[in-house]
Amino acid sequence: MNSTEKTKDKPLGENGKLSRIRVAELNNSEFKRKEAEKITKVKDTDKELEFLLNKIKRNKNIDLTQYRSSILMRRIWHRMQLAHCVSYLDYIMLLNKDPEEYDRMIECLSIKVSEFFRDPKVFDLLGDMVIPQIISEKQIRGDRKIRAWSCGTAYGQEAHSMAILFCESLGSRIGDFDIEVLGTDIDRSALEKAPWGSYDRTVLRRISSHLLFKYFTRVEDRYMLNDKVRSLVSFRYHDIISDNSIPSMDLVLCRNLLIYFRKENQEAIAQKLNAALNPGGFFVLGKTETLPPGMVECFEVVDLRERIYRKRSPINQKREGRKMSEICAINT
Ligand SMILES: C[S@@+](CC[C@H](N)C(=O)[O-])C[C@H]1O[C@@H](n2cnc3c(N)ncnc32)[C@H](O)[C@@H]1O
Repeated sequence: MNSTEKTKDKPLGENGKLSRIRVAELNNSEFKRKEAEKITKVKDTDKELEFLLNKIKRNKNIDLTQYRSSILMRRIWHRMQLAHCVSYLDYIMLLNKDPEEYDRMIECLSIKVSEFFRDPKVFDLLGDMVIPQIISEKQIRGDRKIRAWSCGTAYGQEAHSMAILFCESLGSRIGDFDIEVLGTDIDRSALEKAPWGSYDRTVLRRISSHLLFKYFTRVEDRYMLNDKVRSLVSFRYHDIISDNSIPSMDLVLCRNLLIYFRKENQEAIAQKLNAALNPGGFFVLGKTETLPPGMVECFEVVDLRERIYRKRSPINQKREGRKMSEICAINT
């Protein structure tokens, strides 16, 4: 009989106290039991969460597993608290009872912080350089069509800002072109409000008083965007994860959206946005976002600080690719 077995038979020592080995053993088994319990609970809640995410995907076709889990979990718990649910299971049952809760959850998941001319330097460059460049290239080619896309547009502040810049650049020549600015989002309630062009002063704090006066009318405490600008913009539902790319764009803004996705999913999104662009089309990310490494060769940098890029033509991509491999060959 080894010493452990002896102590098992005789848990108490001679003075009636537990031997130190036995205490350690008991603590250890108690510890293991608690740990096992915790793991089982976590596994159960993991399964419930997985079920919940699959349920949302099945019913709303939105794949939430592609979002960063820290943001996702915070938002899901926030919505669950508001709905007075203490577990995923509770919440799953609520969704069964009240299918409108899906939209409330999606609304809660989408962080719609935005404003007109957010990061003014980006918009200065768009107005002074990018949009005039697009217009002059179109003129040279005799092409009237200009297409721009604000992907993840929230209440349309970004799409409407672009439309104002087109009006500013073209002035009275605006009728010479067929301009369409598209704003897309997954939040249907925001998409319903966006076309009205009715905003409060807080989202207009970056706009110059000249543009505010020129393009908006004050109605009580709201500012109404004029019809000329609104007529250039349309809004529609589009999920950058599950929907196809929207082709023939000359300018794509996808700002402050990529950051919400897991690193490993960002490249697929950037690929979709690249596919949306005409050769030479311009692409803009948010100030805190960067091109996923696999996409660097597909764009040339226009302004790194302001995250403005230009789609390379496929020939240039190949050439750049060759250059890269030559550099690698020299370095090895
Ligand atoms: C922080 S806002 C950015 C708004 C604007 N682009 C800007 O930078 O001011 C992010 C927007 O992306 C939307 N969004 C989230 N997931 C999306 C997806 N899968 N496809 C399209 N839009 C999405 C959200 O609903 C939200 O309106």
